[in-house]
Amino acid sequence: MLNDMNETNNTAIIVAAGSGSRLASDIPKQFLQLRSVEILAYSVQTFLAHPRINEVIIVTSSDYLKHVTDQYQDCKVVIGGKTRQDSVFNGLEACAPDTEHVLVHDAARPLVPSRIIDACLSELKTSHGVAPTIKPVDSMVELKGNTFRNLQRDNLRIIQTPQCFHIDVLKAAHATSKTDTDEIGLVKQSNSQALLSFIDGAPASMKVTRPIDLEIIEIYLRNIE
Ligand code: CTP
Ligand code: MG
Repeated sequence: MLNDMNETNNTAIIVAAGSGSRLASDIPKQFLQLRSVEILAYSVQTFLAHPRINEVIIVTSSDYLKHVTDQYQDCKVVIGGKTRQDSVFNGLEACAPDTEHVLVHDAARPLVPSRIIDACLSELKTSHGVAPTIKPVDSMVELKGNTFRNLQRDNLRIIQTPQCFHIDVLKAAHATSKTDTDEIGLVKQSNSQALLSFIDGAPASMKVTRPIDLEIIEIYLRNIE
């Protein structure tokens, strides 16, 4: 149900159960260090420090359960699944019963600014779901085999996290048989009535995916200082 009250119970679910196959490092990317701090720790700290976040749930693999439980004692820790959607589902199951809003964030995005969390929570007063986005800066095409068509760049957006929802809306989407690579896609597929919106994201809130991303994030860190 939409409401415009300021006080809501907000749970962050940080998904950290992936293997990071595209980065091809020995350990999953969320456990690599940037300036001697684990990548997962950056976003966990941002959500824990945010005055409107009531609990932080970390979803991780069974291999890292002990490590995460030991290192992040202010968080609930649960085991993830085979796909990102499975991992989010397990996080949803662990949310406190009075949770109203849920913010699903990629552990692989260390530099989410606190103001994005505020902007998402504000947007949830009038939407069932919201995600931060970035405008692409290059020309874009859709390529199928040897044929392509140019896309209108002004209509395109790159989607970031946290993807934030009224918890009942996201749970209902998970209860269907639909699958998607992110939450806003899943809710859109499964609920044509859902009011979904986008806010401006932050370029620094990029996801570590390829080796060079670690170097780019290092440059952002220099600017944050
Ligand atoms: N994730 C997860 N559970 C999975 C798959 C992904 O919790 N089964 C998490 C990752 O840990 C990451 C986030 O979802 O924080 C975004 O996913 P992505 O960048 O695709 O990470 P990986 O799946 O680990 O990487 P890759 O796709 O390169 O294997
Ligand atoms: Mg993946």
